[in-house]
Amino acid sequence: MNQNETTSNDASRATQQAPRARSVDSDVARAARAEDMRNSFGFRKVGDGEKQALVDDVFHKVARRYDVMNDLMSGGMHRLWKDAMVARLAPPRKNPAGRQWRSLDVAGGTGDIAMRIVEASGRTAHVTVLDINGSMLAVGAERAEKRGLSPWLDFVEANAEELPFGDGEFDAYTIAFGIRNVPQIDKALGEAFRVLRHGGRLLCLEFSEVDVPVLDRIYDQWSMNAIPRIGQAVAGDGEPYRYLVESVRKFPNQQRFAAMIRDAGFSRVDFTNMTGGVAALHSGWKL
Ligand SMILES: C[S@@+](CC[C@H](N)C(=O)[O-])C[C@H]1O[C@@H](n2cnc3c(N)ncnc32)[C@H](O)[C@@H]1O
Repeated sequence: MNQNETTSNDASRATQQAPRARSVDSDVARAARAEDMRNSFGFRKVGDGEKQALVDDVFHKVARRYDVMNDLMSGGMHRLWKDAMVARLAPPRKNPAGRQWRSLDVAGGTGDIAMRIVEASGRTAHVTVLDINGSMLAVGAERAEKRGLSPWLDFVEANAEELPFGDGEFDAYTIAFGIRNVPQIDKALGEAFRVLRHGGRLLCLEFSEVDVPVLDRIYDQWSMNAIPRIGQAVAGDGEPYRYLVESVRKFPNQQRFAAMIRDAGFSRVDFTNMTGGVAALHSGWKL
């Protein structure tokens, strides 16, 4: 079996080894792609340093309706994908001897992943939710309080590109539907590697490239047409949702993103397609 073939018969959940070679793209193509991600806001070209403020504006606008819109936009699927991510992480139900097991959930928004990790650990793990957007964190902190999970969580407003933590502080680093919003993805992945301890794991869940014929066309129609309309109807503004959909189209496909994770220093990089590649769960280890 070659490295790009699926290793499972289940087309909706096929884990694939990322190609070992650095050359998914040439170095020139990779640099061009990184620049494109840095300087595009959805399909719109923006100047150096402009993307983050535009992204922040989107999430300030949608924060209060983010959770309900997530359900509407994904037909509830995001819950299953997030459950699968946390099941894959399998946080320990007992702390390692003499210390707390700690996880960092970057672009953690309203805390969905962090709260799942705490619950899956039997309320043992400590999770830091980090996001650049105070409005999203405020919703997350309120939800955590209501669910009695605050003692296992803390909320930090900061940029994924410059994490305010020392080297090797975390056992795990998660990021769900966040990385495509970060202008300098390579910088964020470098920071992920730095703050993980040796033996630590990165898990990244992100929308990706649909690899099932017919489903790709249905998904295209749904996301490009229906989602901005739902946003308009439910949240009174379709534009932020247009950005969310367009940013998915701009994001590197499974193999390219896996190569970026490998470039950041991670080992044993693989990905698992979910729902035919609508989303993909990437994994890498700091070894
Ligand atoms: C689509 S939401 C995902 C929220 C949550 N992880 C989830 O899955 O529901 C994307 C989040 O990325 C955050 N974000 C965007 N750029 C960021 C950056 N440079 N550093 C940290 N967070 C960022 C946004 O503020 C937003 O909360």
